[in-house]
Amino acid sequence: MKKITIAIDGFSSTGKSTIAKQLAKHLGYVYVDTGAMYRAVAYFAMQNGYIDKEFFDKDTLIASLPYIKLHFVFNAELGFGEMYLNDVNVEKEIRTIEVSGFVSKVAEVSEVRAKLVEQQQQMGKDKGIVMDGRDIGTVVFPDAELKIFMTASAATRAQRRYDELKAKGDSVSYDEVLKNVEERDYIDTHRDDSPLVKADGAYEIDNSDLTREEQFETVLGLVKELDN
Ligand code: DC
Repeated sequence: MKKITIAIDGFSSTGKSTIAKQLAKHLGYVYVDTGAMYRAVAYFAMQNGYIDKEFFDKDTLIASLPYIKLHFVFNAELGFGEMYLNDVNVEKEIRTIEVSGFVSKVAEVSEVRAKLVEQQQQMGKDKGIVMDGRDIGTVVFPDAELKIFMTASAATRAQRRYDELKAKGDSVSYDEVLKNVEERDYIDTHRDDSPLVKADGAYEIDNSDLTREEQFETVLGLVKELDN
């Protein structure tokens, strides 16, 4: 079977990464979570005091970009690559509600996007990749053989995110999570550079009422169709 590029885009907490990981494992492909890369840059900005609730020193972050090294290290036990920032594993640190609160602002910066998009294109140059994010089918791999656009209602997504954070022991309220989901949706779809839109030729999957298995079978069906 010829190796292809699979681009999965969509709103936050639509379960993109779950399907993408499952698909990559099934096909023997590499999985790349591009959201983790934007989160790592946001975490770097936060750690260095370039961003907090009141301000964002965009220029200093841009000047620091050459000193931000990002890479994934495959963890066989977990079955996916963990995010490393300047050689330190930040997989846990980048998933907090605090980082989620800053990441959309960092992802609006064109210089940040240019750096990450270039690295993502390098990672996918040999195909055999499943990449998820917001601009994969539109900007990173506009020629991807298969493009998926995942959606679900904000309430469904907030509930999923809330359950995940709670399970990790985070003390957040559902309302706080819903507010974060809605704010990120707004910024992600309204930014000037690479706003979240359904790519040309993308298949839309609304998974509000679909089980994980149903979603997986739908996407796998699309992969198989391509091979015929
Ligand atoms: O998928 P996620 O929630 O981990 O993504 C975190 C943020 O990064 C999200 O608010 C939008 C941004 N992002 C982006 O702008 N482009 C991508 N390709 C991936 C994520």
